[in-house]
Amino acid sequence: MNAIEFLDVLTSRKSIRRYKPDPVPDEMIDRILEAARWAPTGENYQPWRFIVVRDQETRNKIGDLSRQGSGSRMTSWYCLNELQQRFEGIEDPVKRAEVLEFMYSGRVSEFCKQAPVVVAIIGDLRVGSVDVPYDLCAAMENMILQAHAEGLGSCWVYGPVASTRDAIRFKKILGIPLGMGYYKVLSYLAVGFPKEQRKHPRPKLALEEMVYWEKFGNKERI
Ligand SMILES: Cc1cc2nc3c(=O)[nH]c(=O)nc-3n(C[C@H](O)[C@H](O)[C@H](O)COP(=O)(O)O)c2cc1C
Repeated sequence: MNAIEFLDVLTSRKSIRRYKPDPVPDEMIDRILEAARWAPTGENYQPWRFIVVRDQETRNKIGDLSRQGSGSRMTSWYCLNELQQRFEGIEDPVKRAEVLEFMYSGRVSEFCKQAPVVVAIIGDLRVGSVDVPYDLCAAMENMILQAHAEGLGSCWVYGPVASTRDAIRFKKILGIPLGMGYYKVLSYLAVGFPKEQRKHPRPKLALEEMVYWEKFGNKERI
C-alpha cells in the first residue's frame, strides 16, 4: 500500500454506532490488540491493559451505565438550550423532538449492547508515567484503524466514564481494582461489523483552519 492509499484508508473511517449481530472472529480481535501493542508510549512503559468483553450481560451493564452517564450530561445541555441549538437544523418538529429525546434520555450511548465486542482500555498508573493518558489514546487510535482495516466498525466511547462516579461503577462492572493511583479508565471501544453505510465520514475542518506555519496565527506557507 502506498502513502496515498494509506491516507484513503484513514479518510474513509468513521465512527460506527450500529452493528450487525455477527460475531467478530478471534483473529480479528487479536490483530486489533496487536495493533494496540505497537502504539508509541512514553519511555516505552506500555502501561495499557485491555479487557475484551463479549458477554452480553456485561455489555448490557456497560450500556446501562453509558445511558445514565450520557443522559445526565445531555440533560444538562438540554437545560442550557445547547442541545436544541445543535439540532435546530432538523425542520420536522416531531423528528426533532425524537432526536432530542434520544439524546437527553442517554439512549444515544447504549449502543454497546448491540456491539458484539467491547474493549475497555485502562492504564496501570503504577507502571506508567505522566504519559499514561497519551499512551492509552495512541493505543486506542491504533485499534480503531486496525478495526477499520479489518472491515469492522468501531466507536471510541468516553462520555459514560467521564465522571469519577461512573468510572468507579465501570471498574466494579469489570472487576478492575479500585483506588486512586491504581488504574485509569480511559474509555472503551465498541467493535463489530457495521450495519450502517461506512462511506460518509463526518465533515471535517479544512487544513487552512487549523494549520499555522512557523508562528501561531500565520496561515501563509513560508
Ligand atoms: C476522546 C473521544 C471520546 C469520544 N466519546 C464518545 C462517546 O462517549 N460517545 C460516542 O458516541 N462517541 C464518542 N466519540 C466518537 C466521536 O463522537 C467521533 O469521533 C466524532 O463525532 C467524529 O466522527 P468520526 O469518528 O466519524 O470522524 C469519541 C471520540 C473521541 C476521540
